[in-house]
Amino acid sequence: MKILYATSEAVPFCKTGGLADVAGSLPSALAAEGAEVAVVLPLYRRVRERFGSQLTFLCYDYVNLGWRHVYCGLFSLEKDGVTWYFLDNEQYFDRPDLYGYMDDGERFGFFSRAVVRMLDHLKFWPDVINCNDWQTALVPIYLKDDGVREERFRSIRTTLTVHNIEYQGRYNPYVLGDLFGLDAGWVEDGTLLMDGDLNLLKGAILCADAVNAVSPTYANELKMAYFAHRMESVMRQCEYKLYGVLNGIDMDRYDPAKDPSIAANFSAEDMAGKDADKAHLQRLMGLREEPHAPVVAIVSRLVSHKGLDLICEVLHDMMKLPMQLVVLGKGDKKYEEFFHWAAQQYPGRMAVRLDYNEELSMAIYAGADLFLMPSKSEPCGLSQMIAMRYGTVPIVRETGGLKDTVHAYEAWRDAGNGFTFANYASNDMLHVIREAVYLYKDYPDAFSRLRKRAMACDFSWARSAGEYLRIYAGVTGQVWPAPEAAPAEETPAAEAASETPAEASVSAEEAPAAAETAAEEARPAEAPAPEPETVPAEEAVKKAAEEAPAVKAEPKKRGRKPGSTNTAKKAAGETKKKGTAPKKK
Ligand code: GLC
Repeated sequence: MKILYATSEAVPFCKTGGLADVAGSLPSALAAEGAEVAVVLPLYRRVRERFGSQLTFLCYDYVNLGWRHVYCGLFSLEKDGVTWYFLDNEQYFDRPDLYGYMDDGERFGFFSRAVVRMLDHLKFWPDVINCNDWQTALVPIYLKDDGVREERFRSIRTTLTVHNIEYQGRYNPYVLGDLFGLDAGWVEDGTLLMDGDLNLLKGAILCADAVNAVSPTYANELKMAYFAHRMESVMRQCEYKLYGVLNGIDMDRYDPAKDPSIAANFSAEDMAGKDADKAHLQRLMGLREEPHAPVVAIVSRLVSHKGLDLICEVLHDMMKLPMQLVVLGKGDKKYEEFFHWAAQQYPGRMAVRLDYNEELSMAIYAGADLFLMPSKSEPCGLSQMIAMRYGTVPIVRETGGLKDTVHAYEAWRDAGNGFTFANYASNDMLHVIREAVYLYKDYPDAFSRLRKRAMACDFSWARSAGEYLRIYAGVTGQVWPAPEAAPAEETPAAEAASETPAEASVSAEEAPAAAETAAEEARPAEAPAPEPETVPAEEAVKKAAEEAPAVKAEPKKRGRKPGSTNTAKKAAGETKKKGTAPKKK
């Protein structure tokens, strides 16, 4: 299976948010499962500055977009079994920031057009292009547009991952031809039209072969007006191809036992280092060095959907509890001013840094006791998973990926891996913060068991990569995993995704710490054993049982064009011949 992952940011090259973390980890996890994977992203100034010497220039070509005829250079780099391609155009990408320019539409229109245009020069003709958010939303549109004239474009299937539906790429329909080089029909038939605007994300949701929201709960929420930013009816219309594969985190990078960026290493078996990290954090932030005061942490962009209004409402009540509060983040002025002011009211007990700072964030994940994330909406959320990995117990609102990853503490049966509340109400949040703080102070043994359960959760990418591959298999009609490697039984992606990671953690608790080993073991462990009751005598029955998973592995509800695989293969073969020798002009 050949997959091209198109993204506007990826760790370690360039990052503004969670998309970069996903794009930095998922491709190599897909490659580790046996897929051929390439990633394509813009060659921003910061990529050239930091990675320029490692890049190989392959070729250049010209991209036609509306009336423009624009240069596009192609660079590449090999890393972790994945080929990384960078598309170069200095006019568009040699700028200090990734986004925030008045011509962002034109820049990412160019990027999406160039992804399709440069396919001839890549090492393979992809079976699937996975695009992400509005910046690459035009890729499925251009493929369909080109597919009208050239059959080979019709062989490529597209999937769209929605990381946050709030950002849709909305423009005046007037610019359709001029900026994006598309015919008026795309707006007239409504494909790219939404509330009178040209809407790139809507077009991609309609045209992609599958749409993936980044958690099972978010996939459901997107059908509701409260969460969908006016896209609910489109999402409901596309429900048949909507999936919710939970993101993972890089379990190797975020490993408290090995992480060189934290003051002292620790693990679930030996937590002494965590106390040292806490003392270090308190010194760093100017908090009183009280080992027994629970440190509650917030590491977040300071924007409204992160639920900060709840904290503003009850901050003084929170600070009546025997706890300390650490806040790291920047964003909207009103929140920055509030937290700055509030910290001055509680010297030694509350500390705030209005900054985006990776190093300090790691000191906080390692040193804090509780991690507060009361988001109004949260497609997936990665920081709660990182916090859990570092033994910092999350307190979250039950929305999106927070709901899928954090399960409420239940004292009576000593279960759960964090604290949760359902309603977007400050008193409900205060109630669980109080519960958490007093569990920490009054029942340290119960708290440390809870902490261990949080640390044992399996958020490895291998699990999600398998689910992505099943979606790709569904849209291409290819069998995945290849029949000889097929496990005994697989559930369709959407159903599998709804199995909670906490459930997976049961087996992970006993599994060895090394992420890869755990990942390898997770497959057979997750797959239910073939029914023992089946009559063993019949060879034929057995055989059928072995062959069954290949069929079942394809997500249900997908209509498939007969013969599409053949067409895909043929097209791939033909193009490969054409495309193997990169032009050097
Ligand atoms: C966006 C979402 C976040 C998610 C991330 C990665 O940043 O807001 O919840 O974890 O994308 O998918």
